[in-house]
Amino acid sequence: MKSALPRVELKLVSRNDWESVVKLSVAPDQVEFVAPNVRSLAEAWVRSDGEHYRYSPLSIYSGVMLVGFAMSVADHATSDDHWIGRFMITHRHQRKGFGRAALLKLIERMTAGGGVRLIRLSCNPHNSAAISLYESVGFADTGKMAGNEMIYALEVKE
Ligand SMILES: CC(C)(COP(=O)(O)OP(=O)(O)OC[C@H]1O[C@@H](n2cnc3c(N)ncnc32)[C@H](O)[C@@H]1OP(=O)(O)O)[C@@H](O)C(=O)NCCC(=O)NCCS
Repeated sequence: MKSALPRVELKLVSRNDWESVVKLSVAPDQVEFVAPNVRSLAEAWVRSDGEHYRYSPLSIYSGVMLVGFAMSVADHATSDDHWIGRFMITHRHQRKGFGRAALLKLIERMTAGGGVRLIRLSCNPHNSAAISLYESVGFADTGKMAGNEMIYALEVKE
């Protein structure tokens, strides 16, 4: 039997924890798979201002321990274009179930308001760990690309 997932909480990155979020890092061989968090925070801050998309940068906590970072991106004009823009668990806390628990929480958060039919993300084709995680929760390869990344989509059941 699989062990229970750890409890995690997602909180909007705030003035209290943004510097800790910037310090989270992935393993050297994962660096090409995700942008540095400092870049994601800059993007969220700059591009949410007057842009079409709303960026939600999220700290992933297990109790008081910061274990990762995620960012959802939603088009607030059509309200039907939802992306997981970033997703990472810091290197020393990987393989403990935080990734799976946080991904499920993120999907729950993104669909809580109703009306979300599809969640998409893009992933480096060599990122087999992330692909296996995404596929295990229902994401499927769309056959489309965003640059050199494959686009996966999750059909949300009402
Ligand atoms: C992908 C990532 C978020 C997974 O986080 P994690 O906390 O280690 O994941 P979990 O411990 O919850 O494991 C969930 C599943 O991920 C997959 N997985 C995670 N690490 C893996 C590895 N090293 N090799 C193979 N599969 C792996 C497995 O399917 C695993 O399920 P299982 O435990 O039932 O086998 C993490 O490896 C990471 O941050 N990678 C670098 C950044 C990145 O690639 N982000 C995604 C960008 S698209």
